[in-house]
Amino acid sequence: MILLEVNNLQKSFDGSAVLKNISFSMEPGQVLAIIGSSGSGKTTLLRCLNFLETPDAGEIIVKGQKLLGGASEEQIRKNRLHFGLVFQNFNLFPQYTALENITLAPSLLGLGSKQELRDNAMRLLEQVGLRQKADFYPYQLSGGQQQRIAIARALALRPEVLCFDEPTSALDPELTGEVLRVIRGLKNKDNTMIVVTHEMEFARSVADVVIYMADGVIEEMGTPEEVFEHPRSEKTKAFLRGAASVL
Ligand SMILES: Nc1ncnc2c1ncn2[C@@H]1O[C@H](COP(=O)(O)OP(=O)(O)OP(=O)(O)O)[C@@H](O)[C@H]1O
Ligand SMILES: [Mg+2]
Repeated sequence: MILLEVNNLQKSFDGSAVLKNISFSMEPGQVLAIIGSSGSGKTTLLRCLNFLETPDAGEIIVKGQKLLGGASEEQIRKNRLHFGLVFQNFNLFPQYTALENITLAPSLLGLGSKQELRDNAMRLLEQVGLRQKADFYPYQLSGGQQQRIAIARALALRPEVLCFDEPTSALDPELTGEVLRVIRGLKNKDNTMIVVTHEMEFARSVADVVIYMADGVIEEMGTPEEVFEHPRSEKTKAFLRGAASVL
């Protein structure tokens, strides 16, 4: 079964093409890792999927339902609910506690009673290992903890596809492990996820499919073994050599 289908997605800024005919599909429970150098269009792709940017052309289809095309504000809000997005810089609301950060959006959308939303948030806090921090404010939490709260917040809306944009790149190295462990745990619970990452080892071990993006195109797509061990394109080989030399 296909959960997400992206067909010929295109996006330009000021006449320069940033996404050129991006097409891929995902099955439920799959993890897609997207790698690629700076400026290759990875964030723009996630922003299009989350309807934070409007693509110029192309289709986004979730469970057979086409989400693009002449969308009203109301429709865009609905479209957004299919996807969750965890940002590089956590973006928690500083004036709210961890628990409130998680319950805010579901409560605005009327997704349950106060008690139900609270119980669900506590369950999510448990899942990211932070139940004891429910009443802490973001400034009282480490970067890794803030990112785990941001993940719980995204999960609270039960997205069909959870997207991560370099979820560990703003973290000190000793804090990346705890966030990657949470993402790995979500895979084991059959969450469908797209992870933009510079963590090659993580991509290799967690992803079902890896996409290497270069200059707005999918330069290479395959299993981690295909992309990392047997890349076909010269650009991919050069990128992987560069990534290896950084490690
Ligand atoms: N709102 C915008 N207006 C104009 N140009 C933009 C906008 N957003 C992105 N771009 C351009 O689109 C290109 C792709 O940007 P994008 O942020 O998607 O790259 P990326 O692959 O996520 O890079 P990085 O690894 O540095 O995060 C860049 O050249 C960028 O300058
Ligand atoms: Mg980016």
